[in-house]
Amino acid sequence: MHRIAAALLSSLVIVTLADIAGAADAANGERLARRWCASCHVVAADQRQGNTQAGPFSEMAKVPGLDAGKLALFLLGPHPPMPDMNLSRSEAADLAAYIETQGK
Ligand code: HEC
Repeated sequence: MHRIAAALLSSLVIVTLADIAGAADAANGERLARRWCASCHVVAADQRQGNTQAGPFSEMAKVPGLDAGKLALFLLGPHPPMPDMNLSRSEAADLAAYIETQGK
């Protein structure tokens, strides 16, 4: 019983720390990107290859005027040839925050 409580508490602490650092959203976005986007897009610097039609996230992040808000909106709508991923608003925002970090 105590062990379970301790495990729950420590995961709470980790989540809270990540929130304070302001990294929670982008970190979740990275997890989502690696799971759902990496089959087509190069989503991180350590990824070698994606699909040739889909741009790497590091390029998207540099497109002038394409900020996190626009990316999130784009991700919420359907846009062939990308599959409709039924992202929630917070998932789209996390992904957009993550994509933005890739331009730096
Ligand atoms: C099945 C392959 C595939 C998957 C999976 C996929 N994409 Fe794409 N995506 C594409 C292609 C192909 C394009 C280019 C569409 C075009 O040029 O019209 C694109 C375009 C985009 C664009 C627009 C880029 C721009 O410059 O306008 C964004 C943003 C994007 N994808 C984000 C994502 C995110 C985030 C995910 C994961 C949640 C994802 N994609 C998953 C294939 C994919």
